[in-house]
Amino acid sequence: MKLFIDSANPTQIQEMWDLGIIDGVTTNPSLAASAGVDYKTAVEVILKTVDGDISLEVLSTEAHEMVVEARKLAAMHHNIVVKLPATLDGLKALRTLSAESIRINMTLVFSANQALLAAKAGAYIVSPFVGRLEDAGEDAINIIHEIRQIYDNYDFQTQILFASVRSTLHVKQAALAGCDIATVPYDILQKLINHPLTDVGLKKFLDDFVKSKQKPLI
Ligand code: G3P
Repeated sequence: MKLFIDSANPTQIQEMWDLGIIDGVTTNPSLAASAGVDYKTAVEVILKTVDGDISLEVLSTEAHEMVVEARKLAAMHHNIVVKLPATLDGLKALRTLSAESIRINMTLVFSANQALLAAKAGAYIVSPFVGRLEDAGEDAINIIHEIRQIYDNYDFQTQILFASVRSTLHVKQAALAGCDIATVPYDILQKLINHPLTDVGLKKFLDDFVKSKQKPLI
């Protein structure tokens, strides 16, 4: 499963890219606002840092305007994947843009049927928002399993991106459900790396070495 970072913070993105644990980025102006960075500048830095899929969202809501905006975004860099919302206009724009081989991430997906339509219209990625579905009291993991089954039943090549990740458990659930990608906030990526029992175990190992006065091997 590929891991993307869900961030607009160039420092965090650089750190995780250098660690070699991320394959791409999803970002948007809201993330830039919460990181306190200028969105345009952040995107320019991200494009220089990460050699992988970078999903950028259109701001238009009408199909023709989405198409115009998506073409411009895609022309900026070969790694850009354009995010379109899973609305009627988004679907219309997706059909036009996928016919032009522009890679589309259909975002704000909240049902298996929306994911089915996105795949039929040629989406490169579909992004079900698991955390927000759970906030609304839905069994979101079941929806992920449904999407996986539908795509496998009909051999759709659209990649399933587990979005709105709120916990390390979500990352494991994404992998167990056969998602192609999970996009993960920086703080949760850090939690994936660390485990308190690893720190306890390392301390005991080093303390025992000192207490027992063993000689180092090298
Ligand atoms: O890419 C954005 C998506 O992951 C949303 O996350 O936490 O705002 O629901 P959240």
